Formats: sequence, structure tokens, C-alpha cells
Amino acid sequence: MVVGVPKEIKDHEARVGVTPAGVKALSDAGHKVLVETNAGAESGFDDCEYQDAGAEIVGDAGYVWGKSDMVVKVKEPIEKEYPYFREGLVLFTYLHLAPIRGLTNELLGSKVIGIAYETVRDRQGTLPLLTPMSEVAGRMSVQVGASYLEKEKGGRGILLGGVPGVPPAHVTVIGGGVVGTNAARIALGMGAKVTLIDLNMHRLREIDDIFNGRVYTLASNSYNVAQATREADLVIGGVLIPGATAPKIVTRHMVSRMKKGAVIVDVAIDQGGCVETARPTSHSDPSYTVDGVVHYCVTNMPGAVPNTSTLALTNATFPYVLRIANRGAKEALKQDPGFAEGLNTWLGTLTHKGVAESQKREWTVPASVLG
Ligand SMILES: NC(=O)c1ccc[n+]([C@@H]2O[C@H](COP(=O)([O-])OP(=O)(O)OC[C@H]3O[C@@H](n4cnc5c(N)ncnc54)[C@H](O)[C@@H]3O)[C@@H](O)[C@H]2O)c1
Repeated sequence: MVVGVPKEIKDHEARVGVTPAGVKALSDAGHKVLVETNAGAESGFDDCEYQDAGAEIVGDAGYVWGKSDMVVKVKEPIEKEYPYFREGLVLFTYLHLAPIRGLTNELLGSKVIGIAYETVRDRQGTLPLLTPMSEVAGRMSVQVGASYLEKEKGGRGILLGGVPGVPPAHVTVIGGGVVGTNAARIALGMGAKVTLIDLNMHRLREIDDIFNGRVYTLASNSYNVAQATREADLVIGGVLIPGATAPKIVTRHMVSRMKKGAVIVDVAIDQGGCVETARPTSHSDPSYTVDGVVHYCVTNMPGAVPNTSTLALTNATFPYVLRIANRGAKEALKQDPGFAEGLNTWLGTLTHKGVAESQKREWTVPASVLG
């Protein structure tokens, strides 16, 4: 198979779909890999590394798309990339089709086989190609929060871990999933006092076990959230109700009762945010203040650490890339029902229920198109 790796052209996207290690594995398996010039440069992988691993470096994006059987990307294609679509092309990337009707139409109209990272499931039913980015964002949230607690950045001027004789900062993490657990781990490691709030009692028991009781757990209700946010120096939002807009767990009133110079990092902002006063921000203008509380609400936090993020993402995606290359998309999808849930478009047919429901259109189960 010929596998194409174009350079990402979406604003501020520095990750790349395949690393030199992936190129080597594909080449060893007998596949040809076309990598666009500088595709990995911003993630720390230069063209020479790709070339040494066996890739052919190509200056023209159109050539990469046009000559490849499968294109592996990171972000959903933007309009400039639509002309590259063609019948039978396998596109493996984050697609986030539900809110993007235009891209859905283009993929269906040009009969592309679109497999979306975000809807692939593993045997446990979790979303293995979303997890690594939540791990990155969760760990990063504490690092970012600690930095905004510094006076110069508008914070209270508190050192997260304190020093002997001076108490540490109090970090409240809301949502104990992948983001929340990773945030708690780093906050604890930096010496903070950590409280974690979740609705799911089973999850709270696991957290209590994982951290040996060193993280204070609280059941999620408005009384507990109000108290924990009032006491917090740093609040991290990591709530998710899959497929839905995040519930506003921290109300405007609760924010107004927080300490002046406290910091909120609402990681759940990509689903609307779990803090009422949160609104999406970008890496170029990441923070703002409401009632004296600093808000950091960047929707693509992993973009700030593209080297780590690319490695983490491709660790998870690459086994699937290799399977598609070795067996062809149809067989690879047929052999793994969880992987088949990643199939969003198949040669002109919409094959994902969630996308169909949000766009109010017809769909077909993947199994029936795969035969
Ligand atoms: N901003 C970014 O760059 C970025 C990066 C990665 C992930 N995210 C987002 O972070 C959010 C969390 O992701 P995740 O992978 O940790 O999800 P997850 O499903 O692993 O965890 C979500 C947790 O929220 C809990 N929860 C649900 N309702 C709650 C409530 N009312 N009160 C308290 N807890 C509640 C759930 O029980 C679960 O434990 C998602 O919206 C995800 O898209 C953002």
C-alpha cells in the first residue's frame, strides 16, 4: 500500500500523523510512505529522519494525496484539502464530523473511506484514540495552572507545592476520568493538596485506591462543588458526558465566591466547558479574568506540546495504520467491530449513528457495507 502523510495546515496544528518510527515499520512491512516536506518539523522530526526511516519526501501536498491509497493525518481536513478527495481513498484521522456538515457532504460525495480516530472503540468500549490527548491535557492542566498562579500572570502568587512551614496550594479537580486522574497525579507530585470530585462513586473508589487515599474524594453535588471551589487555589474541569455538551458544574455564583487570583483551567471547554464563566480561548490568547479569577480555556491544549502529543497519539493510532496497510481497510475493519465503529463514511454511505443523528440524515451500520 502507498501511505501518505501530508503536513497539517489547520491553524496552530503542529502534530503529524506518522512518526519516523512508524515509517520504518511500514517500510519494513513492504509499504511505500510519502511524507510531505516538513510534515513533522514542528513536532521535532525533520525530513532527514523520515528519509532515513525509508520515506520518500515530497514537496507537493497534491502529489501526496493523489498517489496514496491511505492518507494518515491528525486533524479533520479543511476546505483547501477537499479537492484532494477521491473515490476509494482511505482517510484515517480525527474527523469530528457531527458539527461539520460541509466536510461530511464532501467525503460522501467523493466516496472517500473516512475512518475517524475519535469514534474507534477498543474491547473495553473506551475510545483509545482520544485517551492519549486527555492524558496530555490532564497533565498539562496542572503545569499551566501552576504558572498562572504566579503573580505576574494574574494569579495569587502561590507556589503549588508550598515550602517547609508554608502550606501548599489546594487543587480541586472536577471529573475523575482520564483528564482528572492525570491532573490529580501531577498536582500530587508537585506537592499540592488535591480534592477530586466525581458523580460516579465507583470511580471515586478507584481513585481512592490508585492514590492510596492521598487524594481527597468528594461526591459531585452543588454543595460540595461550591465548598471545594471556594477553598481552591486551582480548579481543573475535566467532566464529560459522552456525546453531550458538558454540564455547568461550577456556576457563575460559585466563581464569584472563589479567592481572588485563583485559577480555573477548564479542560472540558472543547465540549462547552463545565464552568459557567468559561469560554473557548486559543494558544495565542489563552486566558482572561472574571471576578478576579483567572480562566484558561484553550480548546486544543495538546497543541502546545506537539512532540509529546504526536508521540502519544501515534503510539495509539499506529497499530491501526499498520493493520489497514497490511490487510486493506475492509478486512481490517471487518475483523475488529470496535475499529469498525471508527468508520464514518464508506464509498458514499454514512456509517456512523452519532454523526447521522446530529445531522438528521440516513445511515447504515458499518457491518452491512463491509459485507
Ligand atoms: N481542551 C483540550 O485540549 C482537551 C484535550 C483532551 C480532552 N479534553 C476534554 O476533557 C474532557 C474530559 O475528558 P476525559 O477523557 O477525562 O473524559 P472521561 O470520560 O475519561 O472522564 C469524564 C469524567 O467526568 C465525570 N462526570 C460526569 N458528570 C459529572 C458531574 N456532574 N460531576 C462530576 N463529574 C462528572 C465522569 O464520571 C467521568 O469520570 C472532555 O470534554 C474531553 O473532550 C479537552
